[in-house]
Amino acid sequence: MPKTINVLFLAAEADPFVKVGGLGDVAGSLPIALRALSNNEIQLDVRLVLPYHPVVKADNLKPLGIFPIKRGNTEVQAEIFETSINGLPVYFINGDPIRANGSVYSSNAKLDAEKYTFFSLAALELPRHINWSPNIVHANDWHTALSVYGSLAKSWEEGAHRIASVLTLHNLPYMGPDVSAILESYGYKLAQTDLPEWARVMPLPLGMWASDAIVAVSPTYGDEILTPEYGCGLNEFLQLRRETVSGILNGLDTVSFNPATDSTLSSNFDVDSLEKRATNKTALQEKLGLPFTIETPLLALVSRMDVGKGVDLAFTALKSLKNLNWQAVILGTGDLKLEAAALKLQEIYPERVKVITRFDASLARQIYAGADMLLMPSRYEPCGLSQMIAMRYGCVPIVRAAGGLNDTVTHGKTGFVFEKIHHMSLMAAIKSACKVFVNQAEWQTIQHAGMSQDLSWGNSAKKYLDLYQSIIKS
Ligand code: GLC
Repeated sequence: MPKTINVLFLAAEADPFVKVGGLGDVAGSLPIALRALSNNEIQLDVRLVLPYHPVVKADNLKPLGIFPIKRGNTEVQAEIFETSINGLPVYFINGDPIRANGSVYSSNAKLDAEKYTFFSLAALELPRHINWSPNIVHANDWHTALSVYGSLAKSWEEGAHRIASVLTLHNLPYMGPDVSAILESYGYKLAQTDLPEWARVMPLPLGMWASDAIVAVSPTYGDEILTPEYGCGLNEFLQLRRETVSGILNGLDTVSFNPATDSTLSSNFDVDSLEKRATNKTALQEKLGLPFTIETPLLALVSRMDVGKGVDLAFTALKSLKNLNWQAVILGTGDLKLEAAALKLQEIYPERVKVITRFDASLARQIYAGADMLLMPSRYEPCGLSQMIAMRYGCVPIVRAAGGLNDTVTHGKTGFVFEKIHHMSLMAAIKSACKVFVNQAEWQTIQHAGMSQDLSWGNSAKKYLDLYQSIIKS
């Protein structure tokens, strides 16, 4: 009989049901990759639980019933639905606090506090209603972190068996709003914690405090969060629990992101038919209205317009590199000031720069397949996905040595890496890349190395499995 590990995997979003950012990619892939590790010795029964946001797209939902969650003298009803994807059981929880909030993440902190507290606590009741008991609760980011806290609090309260827990950090600065009053109304007391006082009422720190393992989404980010620069005020607390903190690099969905089969491309290619890639570059230039030249390096910025992503550094660097021969495409939305700065760059260089301020997943893929270099000058980057997609598509990344960028891109081998958060450092990296680009044989060696890397989920999933086993044992 294989040994079974049951994992209750919680997230605010998961592709293809609902996706806002990188968390959606991870929660859409990791549970499936984990289940795929099952063999004769070990059975990994991972089940995904998501809030039934009004924007969720899911077919064949089977209603499984309604159960009440006690809140003060009243009850909040939790409705459960079930579906599956690639063999992964997926549960949705609905209820008034989820219906009250149209978007996945609201600018109204109170709505989010109500929604995610309810969801995290209701998710802990779900296993009983489906006759299944988890060995591990695996939460992601602040939205579901209270499930880890709640699970521990419940085991104290009910003297019940303690379920092991993992909390993955995709973005430490987002810790969630003050939930103390809501937690208490659901009958959960705030514990005496060794957290800094300001953090004692927030979901993410509470989850970190209660969890057996804290996982950052890359080894470098795992180190960075222990420092004052990246620790967001929790670095000292994290230092104290250092032995529970680790970093596991996210993977890439290499089936979806495959230049050999991607139907959005003008010409499919792989590492052995790199010459076909050129068709994608000219198609992209044509689509964008840029002059056709294969010799001019086409630089790309595909990013949320966010200061954390360092897009401002890219704008300044490009402006200062006017004597160098390049073209640039900028795709992304976000901060209106940064969008305006991008459009300003286009105004200065109408022949060279094209800016598209919208979210466009197909165009993004065409850019990865057609552009020569991807700029990712992030000030901080827990893991990052674009640099992995870019390498898989033969687009050479130029990145700052932050978080997952540092762990996935090797300077001079698969891309170009710079250290300092300064546009001059980025400029120097772009210049070195353009110098190599002139020598196409050398350039192709870099493209080959990037395309041949194994970026799939398999390795990461194995690391999570090892972690699950180690915390169940202890
Ligand atoms: C967050 C981080 C990003 C990471 C993603 C998935 O969006 O900012 O770096 O890749 O989460 O873990």
